[in-house]
Order: sequence, then structure tokens, then C-alpha cells
Amino acid sequence: MKRKVYVTRKLPDVIVERLSETCEIRMWEEEERPVPREVLEEEIKDVDGLYCLLTEQIDAPLLDRADKLKVIANMAVGYNNIDIDAAKERGVTVTNTPGVLTETTADLTFSLLMATARRIPEASEYLRNGEWKTWSPMQLTGQDIHGATLGIIGLGRIGEAVAKRAKGFDMKVLYHNRSQNREAEGRLELHYTELHTLLRESDFVCVLTPFTPETKNMIDKEELDRMKESAIIINTARGGIVNEKALYDALKEKSIWAAGLDVFEEEPVSLNHPLLSLPNLVTLPHIGSASIATRMKMADLAATNLLDVLAGGDPPNKVV
Ligand code: GLV
Repeated sequence: MKRKVYVTRKLPDVIVERLSETCEIRMWEEEERPVPREVLEEEIKDVDGLYCLLTEQIDAPLLDRADKLKVIANMAVGYNNIDIDAAKERGVTVTNTPGVLTETTADLTFSLLMATARRIPEASEYLRNGEWKTWSPMQLTGQDIHGATLGIIGLGRIGEAVAKRAKGFDMKVLYHNRSQNREAEGRLELHYTELHTLLRESDFVCVLTPFTPETKNMIDKEELDRMKESAIIINTARGGIVNEKALYDALKEKSIWAAGLDVFEEEPVSLNHPLLSLPNLVTLPHIGSASIATRMKMADLAATNLLDVLAGGDPPNKVV
């Protein structure tokens, strides 16, 4: 008898074929709309495995409907969409997809940093809107990246990969992390600092920490007030780590210079969100890991994790 698996979004054919070799697959076939909660509540009732994305909230009431569930394979490195304690209590294994997206997400983080510092989207619009009349000394001037100080909040895999890129731009790199990493400090020439020192001294602050109850609103008014007027904050981790109201006020009052966001507290962000009205904000729709090759690797790794658990083995990326 094949194990039953529910997949919460349309996946590439090759991944579906791989899962179908040993499992009976049901799948939410739409690409542009997440599975409605009531559909998921029905579908989860009789499955052994759930293959899901960060758009699905996997909470205790949902898990209470899933008598046979053995594994939740999240196709993401972050797993703040899953109630990990509730899964553990019910003996359900949770897996994620670290490693394969590190370099791609670091590429995007650095791209967003550069686009924000040099006002690239704004300059492109300026040209397309016919505003480019002449070359002018202070026209569309931004902030230098080379030689600046970068502060990394959260020195995990992606934080280290961003630090490596910064070295190529002759940046001084500070970091703040729950624990000091002396090995990485030596290898990458990093300087460990308290959060307040990092905020005070950095020209660029990159938020790369997981979203947990401890990191919720970690960057709030008090922290933003400590940053330089010329500083830029980049968040490619999760919305909610930087308080959006406080960020709006800081950008509006120009107490910091600009921000680049790939993530929001609520996604997709509403077009009426006050932040979107600000010229000194560069935004993206949560595309940190979105290269073709990396998304294929993430989809395949989530499948490996799911299949390994269902086969009674140890998955490569067990969270609990
Ligand atoms: C994307 O945000 C991920 O957590 O993989």
C-alpha cells in the first residue's frame, strides 16, 4: 500500500514523479493561490506526509485533524509557519531545506543592498518616466558600498555567505549573534559586537536571523534610533523581526537613509501598506532563494526529507 501524501502547491513534474514512485500524491494544483485552510483541513485527515510551503500555517488545531501524519516537509529553510512544539508533542517529524539556498539568498541580499544604496529601481523609473534631462552633479546620488561598514545580525550560513561577498567590496564586517563564532571571525575577518554597537557603527545593517518569539520586533524604534542617518537596513529574513511601524517612521523622518525589504509581516503585502508609499524603500516579493536551480534543489531536498521519514529512515534535515 502506497503512503498518502498531500502537497500544498503545484510542484515541478520531476518532483511529483519522484514522490509518486512510492507515494499516492494529492496536490493543490494552483500556482498563484495558496491552498485554502478548509481544503487543507480536509486533506490532512488521512495523509502520512505533508509537503508544504512557508505560506501554510501548520498549527495545533490542524495537526489535531491528522491522525496518521508522520512528517511535515517544509520547502523552506525557515519554519516559523509550523508549530514545532505541537508537532513534537504529536510525534510528527518536521524537516526544512537548509544549505541548498545559502549562496542564492546571499546573492539576493547583496543585490538588494546594492540596489538600495545606489537607488537602482528609482533611477530606472526616472529614465523610463522621461525625467532624465541632463547629467547633473548630485542627481540620483546614493551611498558607497565599497569600504563601508556592514553589520550582520544573525551569523548563520547565509550571514557568513553575505560576509564573504562584503569582503570583495573591502567592507569592514561586524556581526551580532546569540553566540560568538570565533572560528568564522578568523576565517572571514569578522568583528563580534553587541547589538547596540553594531547599530551605531554600521553603514549597512543586514537582518539574517530566524524569526522566533525572541527575535520578533528585535529591531524596533529604539534600535532604529541608534542607527546613523546615512544608514541602510536590509531584511531578507522574515517580516516581524523589524517592526514595520517603527521602520516607516524612521524612513519618513529620514532618521535612517533607506531600507531594502524582501519580506513583510503579512505576505503578500497590501498595496495600501504605508511603507510602499516611501521613495527610500526598495521592495521585493520574498524572492531570496528564487533562482531556478536553487528552487529545484529545495523542492528535491524537501522530497528527500519526506520520503526518508516515510521509509523509516533519518532525513537529512530534521528540525524535530
Ligand atoms: C525562505 O524564506 C525560506 O525560509 O526558505
